[in-house]
Amino acid sequence: MFLTHLECSACGTRHDWRRPQNLCTKCGKPLFAVVDLASAMGQLTREKLASREQSLWRFREVLPLPKDAEPISLGEGGTPLLQSKQFGGDVDLWIKDESLNPTQSFKARGMSVAVSMAKYLGAEKLAAPSAGNAGGALAAYAARAGLEAHIFMPRDTPRANVVECRELGAHVTLIDGLITDCGAEIARRKEKEGWFDLSTLKEPYRIEGKKTLGYEIAEQFNWKLPDVILYPTGGGTGLVGMWKAFDEMEQLGWIDNKRPRMFSVQASGCAPIVRAFEAGEKFAAEFPNAQTVASGLRVPKAIGDFLMLNILRDSKGGAIAIDDEEMIRTVREVGSKEGLFVAP
Ligand SMILES: Cc1ncc(COP(=O)(O)O)c(C=O)c1O
Ligand SMILES: [Zn+2]
Repeated sequence: MFLTHLECSACGTRHDWRRPQNLCTKCGKPLFAVVDLASAMGQLTREKLASREQSLWRFREVLPLPKDAEPISLGEGGTPLLQSKQFGGDVDLWIKDESLNPTQSFKARGMSVAVSMAKYLGAEKLAAPSAGNAGGALAAYAARAGLEAHIFMPRDTPRANVVECRELGAHVTLIDGLITDCGAEIARRKEKEGWFDLSTLKEPYRIEGKKTLGYEIAEQFNWKLPDVILYPTGGGTGLVGMWKAFDEMEQLGWIDNKRPRMFSVQASGCAPIVRAFEAGEKFAAEFPNAQTVASGLRVPKAIGDFLMLNILRDSKGGAIAIDDEEMIRTVREVGSKEGLFVAP
């Protein structure tokens, strides 16, 4: 492991990784893991990667978790990158099929790394809010680790997501409100209950798991990044994680300085990032009356808003809102044309 310290993404204050950490103790913004890439470079080469088993833990040298600790793993990562046959029309479109992860979503990547580190650092009770797939992923990895999971979900979260958490042994509480209300409930109770808060970007290691998406995309495109990446955006961990991976890979000498134009795709009924991007704002105001069938994208206020907005602008990308009707129509179109049953 070549993790050296944690650094605030806003004010740069250093934090010790040897203790469980949430947000920056100075300014309350997300912390990033800093890896000594010059040293990691000597141990991990692109050639070496190719011979390892298809799990995200083959990127171990650039991930947190000391060498002597066993990762909490269910076989996450190593998902296919499929070229679109018909749906993309004339566009050279590729789809990273993250449904092949444990618990059927890319949330497994983040939780594998975050739960591994939480256990290593001595946490026993883990808590997170979820309006979609993060809850199921946390429940699975907590079960595998022998830890308690406490999951707070909006009452109208799709039943399949709630059942999944319960069957995986998690304590599920349904809240009359949105994911932000669920997060607030955890913040209110965590100290008394002894919970470690694993909310999106409120601890530093879910991004570390998500960054492996970026490493895999580069590897699958033979170390040349695509021109454009479209990312369905809620809390934004995947977007922020991929961008971190691109910087790390450039420092490792694996890719050049060319970056994809990054696009956030949100639901018109809950599009705080789109609204802030268009208005030229640095932060995104809470989106009022958030509504959409894409339950995992119903995040009216994200703590990583400024990180996402910086990435969209630095990459000369953008932000797009899609209404629910179009999403539902597109689920059928992608399904029938590509053989992929995607979430809205
Ligand atoms: C399938 C799927 N895509 C995208 C997202 C959004 O992810 P993030 O909150 O990291 O932006 C979610 C969140 O639940 C999801 O389940
Ligand atoms: Zn700070």
